[in-house]
Amino acid sequence: MTIQDAKFLMSNSRVEECPAPTLPEYAFIGRSNVGKSSLINMLTNHKGLAKTSSSPGKTQLINHFLINGNWYLVDLPGYGYAKISKDARAKWARMINFYLRRRENLTCVFVLIDSRHQPQAVDLEFMEQLGSEGIPFVMVFTKADKQSGSRTSQHVVQYLETMSKSWDELPRHFVTSAEEKTGRDEVLDFIAEINQQ
Ligand code: GTP
Ligand code: MG
Repeated sequence: MTIQDAKFLMSNSRVEECPAPTLPEYAFIGRSNVGKSSLINMLTNHKGLAKTSSSPGKTQLINHFLINGNWYLVDLPGYGYAKISKDARAKWARMINFYLRRRENLTCVFVLIDSRHQPQAVDLEFMEQLGSEGIPFVMVFTKADKQSGSRTSQHVVQYLETMSKSWDELPRHFVTSAEEKTGRDEVLDFIAEINQQ
């Protein structure tokens, strides 16, 4: 798929105030600093569209981007950021949970996972939760440029093996690097495929 047009629409904290749910929507979620906003910029070929930062906790609201005038990309705040207050964490969790459960046009959630690490409980639990609620999702292993391809594959296999113990069917997965712009076509083709259904 070619991205002809990508524009920021709005940020808000309430699912009721999101744009009218008339177009397919794809949301990016994952731990703070995993590279959600960077991946959105890489996919849209639009440096600076989504705000990124080297310190975790940059994205704090639900951010809608309209792509090619006919689908939405959504940048969400990360989970698992230790350095915020309990109150702030609970508020974020509430916002994200409401969004994930109530957003009727949410077509697929992209769960971003740092490809440098072995399976992390927080990511496994988050996906477990999505699965148990029947929210469709795929996995994206980010920052693949940070280590060798074989190390990345090793971590991917470890995730899939761990998940296969409790899942009949494994979610689809992608490997990306926002730095080297890898995995772009695969992710965009996947979205195009669903949009055509
Ligand atoms: P929050 O909004 O805070 O949850 O973070 P985020 O998941 O949106 O991460 P963000 O895109 O802001 O990136 C965090 C840091 O990781 C930045 O310093 C990025 O430059 C870096 N980064 C993101 N993706 C990649 C990647 O593919 N490769 C490398 N080397 N660095 C990356
Ligand atoms: Mg972000």
